[in-house]
Amino acid sequence: MDPKQPLNGKVAIVTGAGSGIGWAIALLFAEQGARIVVADWNASAGAETVQQIRSDGGEARFHKVDVSKAVEVEGLIQFAAGQYGRLDVIVNNAAIQILGTLTQTSEEDWDRLHSVNLKGVFLCSKYAIPEMIRGGGGSVVNVASVLGLVGDPNLAAYCAAKGGVIALTKAAAIGYGPQGVRVNCICPGDVDTPMVQEFFNRDPNPELARQTVSAHYALRRIADPREVAQTAAFLASDASSFLTGSVIVVDGGLTSKCY
Ligand SMILES: NC(=O)c1ccc[n+]([C@@H]2O[C@H](COP(=O)([O-])OP(=O)(O)OC[C@H]3O[C@@H](n4cnc5c(N)ncnc54)[C@H](O)[C@@H]3O)[C@@H](O)[C@H]2O)c1
Repeated sequence: MDPKQPLNGKVAIVTGAGSGIGWAIALLFAEQGARIVVADWNASAGAETVQQIRSDGGEARFHKVDVSKAVEVEGLIQFAAGQYGRLDVIVNNAAIQILGTLTQTSEEDWDRLHSVNLKGVFLCSKYAIPEMIRGGGGSVVNVASVLGLVGDPNLAAYCAAKGGVIALTKAAAIGYGPQGVRVNCICPGDVDTPMVQEFFNRDPNPELARQTVSAHYALRRIADPREVAQTAAFLASDASSFLTGSVIVVDGGLTSKCY
């Protein structure tokens, strides 16, 4: 493994790579030598990610996909294998956020969120893993959240789906380890992306909301998307060759304290 280009030769799909954490992961993976399939349902955002990677000297192609639709996910995996001849890594990052306590959440919102945040991870893994096995193995990196480990009363459906992603990570790790596929997940705390900015913007004073949230962190700030991308790159690379079924918390100390 070339320490400067630890992902050299690998082909990686990054879902939700049109924005935020997925965008940072796609750019860092390309910098580290991977060939990237940028997968997003937002075509213009995905095209911008590809353009950025190419202008930085990397290799990337865009494929439009809704990760909640099996036929589209199947098409995504065929596209990656067809374009690059193999698939080594998939980062299941695409997700949506819907605010609501348990009793406020409508059945429709519950289903919509779960179809992307949990079923999307299931579908992408279901179609990617056989392709990885065909190539001799691979790495699945799921982006969960600290909200899969601890609760937020105002994000009931989101917490439930992220907890599901953590459990699915472990089930898949045990199931496909013997065939050389590692499956791990990352649990970020707040990360400075459009998803979190939107959350702050719902407050009458978004800057104060950001400061209040930051004060809960041991490091007194929320994360930069690239800080999560570094962990994803480690999990994608052979440097993490004995990690599978692991849940890596990247939260600046947020969940380390009780009071
Ligand atoms: N931002 C945070 O603070 C934070 C914290 C913990 C976990 N996460 C998780 O990190 C991941 C990325 O979050 P982000 O903040 O970068 O979000 P974001 O909203 O900035 O980006 C999400 C991307 O996913 C795409 N997407 C959404 N639904 C899709 C679908 N059905 N099919 C294909 N693409 C779809 C969007 O178009 C967008 O480009 C998510 O899994 C999120 O739950 C984020």
